[in-house]
Amino acid sequence: MNPYDSPYDPAYDDESAETAADRLVGSAADGEDQAVEAALRPKELAEFVGQERVREQLDLVLKAARQRGATADHVLLSGAPGLGKTTLSMIIAAEMGAPIRITSGPAIQHAGDLAAILSSLQEGEVLFLDEIHRMSRPAEEMLYMAMEDFRVDVIVGKGPGATAIPLELPPFTLVGATTRAGLLPPPLRDRFGFTGHMEFYAPAELERVVHRSAGLLDVDVDTDGAAEIAGRSRGTPRIANRLLRRVRDYAQVKADGVITREVAASALDVYEVDRRGLDRLDRAVLDALLRLFGGGPVGLSTLAVAVGEERETVEEVAEPFLVREGLLARTPRGRVATPAAWAHLGLVPPQNVGNPPQQGLFGP
Ligand SMILES: Nc1ncnc2c1ncn2[C@@H]1O[C@H](COP(=O)(O)OP(=O)(O)OP(=O)(O)O)[C@@H](O)[C@H]1O
Ligand SMILES: [Mg+2]
Repeated sequence: MNPYDSPYDPAYDDESAETAADRLVGSAADGEDQAVEAALRPKELAEFVGQERVREQLDLVLKAARQRGATADHVLLSGAPGLGKTTLSMIIAAEMGAPIRITSGPAIQHAGDLAAILSSLQEGEVLFLDEIHRMSRPAEEMLYMAMEDFRVDVIVGKGPGATAIPLELPPFTLVGATTRAGLLPPPLRDRFGFTGHMEFYAPAELERVVHRSAGLLDVDVDTDGAAEIAGRSRGTPRIANRLLRRVRDYAQVKADGVITREVAASALDVYEVDRRGLDRLDRAVLDALLRLFGGGPVGLSTLAVAVGEERETVEEVAEPFLVREGLLARTPRGRVATPAAWAHLGLVPPQNVGNPPQQGLFGP
């Protein structure tokens, strides 16, 4: 099936299961995150930590537009949840001194919804379209014309008597954000003048995020304490901010309020986030793979039964990070643990690692 036929299939949404599970290391925003994130968002490009390349390129795009007195080109931001797409879109508006209108793909199901928003934009306004890959097809087609020609055709009436009334739009900057750039139809992707791909953050960058947020939240964290939190944050600022808040609670109740390495490590051990950012579920999957199945290969269903979870939970919630960390590989014959997985759990791989388990290993 062509993925573009269906603008949104929940099965593609890698975050839905994660949100439901409400994990401390989940990358989607929960209610508490949303409440504090506004306060923690950097307001200007210079304050935005990391993403050097995207930042430098975007800086040029915005400066050049400002010098020409023109509206900036349309910008597409892609990357995993919690890496700063929404933050960057607000920075774009702030840097351009322009107002920002915020909406999202799922909120625009009819072309008419989009026409209403577009026709009410002011000149130079930034339109932030979050989860742009989840927009309906007719709205997407209307957007093509709006992006390219700053014009939309509003259809009045129905059937053979329907007429298209062209409507001029003021120049605006569309900032689209997506966690799944691969699902965007090429004609849409091509209409963006600049595409910024956000990468996961290096530990040193996350350390800076932790220090910055600690300052704003008035939390006392030392260098090693910040490093400990950063190392467990899965390359994601949102997770770093969330872990910082949990560690702050612990420091306040169990220590003197100061976050040192020991305090951070003890706190995150209590919350079952290990030194690599794996949580209870991730570890259960690895543990079963290593101890019960000798490191694999083992089928997904078997692995899921062994940890008492749904197939989908193992596949969509636990595995992506394990694969990214190089702890688990998905092969045609099943899931296989890497040497790093054995080392991480402090286990010694059997002699025949890499080969299928011997016949009789699990037999009588
Ligand atoms: N580069 C950064 N520097 C400092 N803080 C950051 C940075 N990137 C993200 N953050 C923080 O992480 C939180 C999440 O960022 P944001 O909401 O922009 O992510 P997102 O990419 O839009 O996620 P989603 O895909 O879930 O919408 C924000 O509160 C912000 O403070
Ligand atoms: Mg966002």
